[in-house]
Amino acid sequence: MKKVTTSVLLKMKQERQKITVLTAYDASFAKLFDEAGIDAMLIGDSLGMVLQGEDSTLPVSVDDIAYHTRAVRNGTSRALVVADMPFMSYATPEQTYPNAAKLMAAGANMVKLEGGEWLLESIEGLVKRGIPVCGHLGLTPQSVNVIGGFKVQGRDQEKAQKMISEAQQLERAGIQMLVLECVPTNLAASITEAVSIPVIGIGAGNKTDGQVLVMHDMFGISANYMPKFSKNYLAQTGDIRKAVSAFIDEVQSGAFPDESHSFAD
Ligand code: KIV
Ligand code: NA
Repeated sequence: MKKVTTSVLLKMKQERQKITVLTAYDASFAKLFDEAGIDAMLIGDSLGMVLQGEDSTLPVSVDDIAYHTRAVRNGTSRALVVADMPFMSYATPEQTYPNAAKLMAAGANMVKLEGGEWLLESIEGLVKRGIPVCGHLGLTPQSVNVIGGFKVQGRDQEKAQKMISEAQQLERAGIQMLVLECVPTNLAASITEAVSIPVIGIGAGNKTDGQVLVMHDMFGISANYMPKFSKNYLAQTGDIRKAVSAFIDEVQSGAFPDESHSFAD
């Protein structure tokens, strides 16, 4: 079984093969997702909401993510393992390096950071030190208090332009993957074309290079509310493994997300 690496994901983008990603937090689900053929797994700070029952991702610690990253690593043989850096764990480059190192030591292949321009120095520093980085633009839930709620981002022309240029800046700084959350389909398509790295969407339409969902939303079992862009694959299949395969099939064929799970301009 060929391991999924950053170069495999890059090639998938170039060959227009869709990339499938789910969040995972433990070894049993990681193994099930890995066996189904999921390309990457994200230990998201969404665990604050779906595992810990908090109403935002802010209370999550680096140790929380490291603990779950170790568990996911132990259940994974093929997929790329990406760990979220939690709120304020990368406020400065000096704070970023030891915290990212902890997540890599716990078994991550890549770390994910939320934000644009202000992160360029940290991203360059991480990549130079051997740590691959995934960016995250659009709705960045760690900034929910600044944004003023979980809302679609980039709807006005100026903010859309800024997001495109930030994606390009992040790419120049060295990110090897980008998550776009809650942005209109056309903007996500423009960003996907504007960069050469794989772009993974969530609530960003079906023109991106791949899709990610929070596993609890994909199974329809989240403690909190279910976002509009998510789809309950367990309801339609009645079986956990079939649900994962249906998600993979629909992402690969471009059937998911359809318009009812996307945002128009
Ligand atoms: O924390 C998370 O699960 C995420 C995904 C929604 C991309 O960041
Ligand atoms: Na996250």
